Amino acid sequence: MQIGILGGGQLGRMLALAGYPLGLRFRTLDLSSEAPAGQVSELMAADFNDTDALKRFARGLDVVTYEFENVPVDPARFLSRRVAVFPPPEALEAAQDRLTEKRFFERLGIPTPPFIAVDSWDDLKNALNDTGLPAVLKTRRFGYDGKGQVVIRKTEDVSAAWQSLGGVPLILEGFVAFEREVSMLAVRSRNGETAFYPLVENHHHEGILRLSLCPAPGATSELQGEAEELASRALAALNYTGVLAIEFFQRDGHLLANEMAPRVHNSGHWTIEGAEVSQFENHLRAILGWPLGSTAPVGFSAMLNLIGTIPDLRSLLAMKNLHLHLYGKAPRPNRKLGHLTLRVPSAEARDTGLAHLRQLIGQSE
Ligand SMILES: Nc1ncnc2c1ncn2[C@@H]1O[C@H](COP(=O)(O)OP(=O)(O)O)[C@@H](O)[C@H]1O
Ligand SMILES: [Mg+2]
Repeated sequence: MQIGILGGGQLGRMLALAGYPLGLRFRTLDLSSEAPAGQVSELMAADFNDTDALKRFARGLDVVTYEFENVPVDPARFLSRRVAVFPPPEALEAAQDRLTEKRFFERLGIPTPPFIAVDSWDDLKNALNDTGLPAVLKTRRFGYDGKGQVVIRKTEDVSAAWQSLGGVPLILEGFVAFEREVSMLAVRSRNGETAFYPLVENHHHEGILRLSLCPAPGATSELQGEAEELASRALAALNYTGVLAIEFFQRDGHLLANEMAPRVHNSGHWTIEGAEVSQFENHLRAILGWPLGSTAPVGFSAMLNLIGTIPDLRSLLAMKNLHLHLYGKAPRPNRKLGHLTLRVPSAEARDTGLAHLRQLIGQSE
């Protein structure tokens, strides 16, 4: 079986690495001939809108998937007339635009932060009357890792926010004073079987995910049930196949959906060592219509992203319960270069291990 992946980043790379033990082969399509997945798959460097390249890409593939959500929808549709494409292009479309995405959640009765479309300076002033301050102004499309968004805290910040983002379609959201951020990784197979990983607690800094903890400390079975129920609505509405990640804000003990990603997700990297079967393998099983593997956690995991620089590897590798993943990318500020997963038998061991790990990373940065 050969799988095509649109996008050649670290997610594509980890999908391929998870697929080889299952006897699968991979072809990836990326703009850059240097894409990290190219080191572990047959990489085609081409523009997603180049239909001749798409035809060549599709030749001989059994199924096509994506590893980043800004793959343009038209090429995904074009490919879906030649080969099975999962998740469905409709899911890509729904997730690419923050306004469409929030309206999608709203239609399904999935709670979200308050949001209003903003296309002009007047829209922004009116919207701010509704949300009050603070509020978050975001571009509707192409935002990631906190890019394309500004928190407006005071009236004096409003015009600067408009200066920096105005001119493209925007969305204004009420600022949620959340207790914490959690995410749900849900998976649905081509044959309708579904499975859910335990809720993950996520910590962002400057809009970039730094740390994920799974199981999320103190997550009750009620909260897990709430997340699974909300995710099930999204899976059903999209007739979804593959892994779907939903980021939530937890406030007053309940969940507000922030955004979703129709793909494997950074907050699921811990599953490689910390779950019976990883998100990557389960995504592949799902799109192939194979039985899903167990999503049960194995011990307690903490996943730390390596961003911008790579710390001293010898001291990291000396930690016995630590697993290192490097993506084969050149260091650059704010770039995700790899991640570390600490997997230990108890929540206490996770706390102490994490404190030690942070010290190590701090020392070598
Ligand atoms: N409405 C909001 N209220 C409070 N914090 C927010 C809000 N929207 C975003 N954030 C913060 O910014 C981070 C990144 O925003 P998000 O919408 O998830 O964009 P990205 O696509 O960059 O991940 C969130 O994880 C959260 O920490
Ligand atoms: Mg996010």
